Amino acid sequence: MKKLSLLLNVVLLCVIAYGGYKFIIEGSVEQADDGRTAIMLNSGERDLVLGEMRTFLEAVQGIVTAIAEDDMATVAELATPVGMVATEGEAASLMGKLPIEFKLHGMATHGLFDDLAQQATETGDSQLVTVSLGVLMENCTSCHAGYRFDVAGTGK
Ligand code: HEC
Repeated sequence: MKKLSLLLNVVLLCVIAYGGYKFIIEGSVEQADDGRTAIMLNSGERDLVLGEMRTFLEAVQGIVTAIAEDDMATVAELATPVGMVATEGEAASLMGKLPIEFKLHGMATHGLFDDLAQQATETGDSQLVTVSLGVLMENCTSCHAGYRFDVAGTGK
């Protein structure tokens, strides 16, 4: 009996470890034809993340315009809402579908927006802020090069 319950415990632990691995590390992914990793979402989740992406782009557009006008207060104002504050309240079910590397990459990008806001406020130096924005945007381009969002069963 003891042996059986030990075995059951081991099996249970393996199931939990596998579930944790899938949920935290691997996410819900497939290899896409274009060489990128497709993250499989439902259509609502895909709409949500793409909406967040468009918010990123709108922030960058406003920041570029503000830099051109040497308006560092507006840079900070536009960068802050897409900083770490934007990561609050993300659904756990969605988080479980994103691979760990993707999550870290996304978090780092939000963190860099906070850094940008701080740099704009503290230095008021548009040249420095432009360099930082260029570096920040390497996160956008490298993530897009590696990942796409697909909806299961639709082939896109
Ligand atoms: C952690 C990964 C990641 C980061 C970082 C990232 N994106 Fe994305 N973004 C994606 C993925 C994946 C897609 C979907 C691409 C696809 O399906 O072909 C996407 C799509 C988009 C879209 C298309 C939205 C739509 O409605 O179709 C825009 C715009 C965009 N991203 C802007 C940005 C900008 C600007 C940044 C940087 C400030 C950024 N993204 C950072 C992963 C990322």
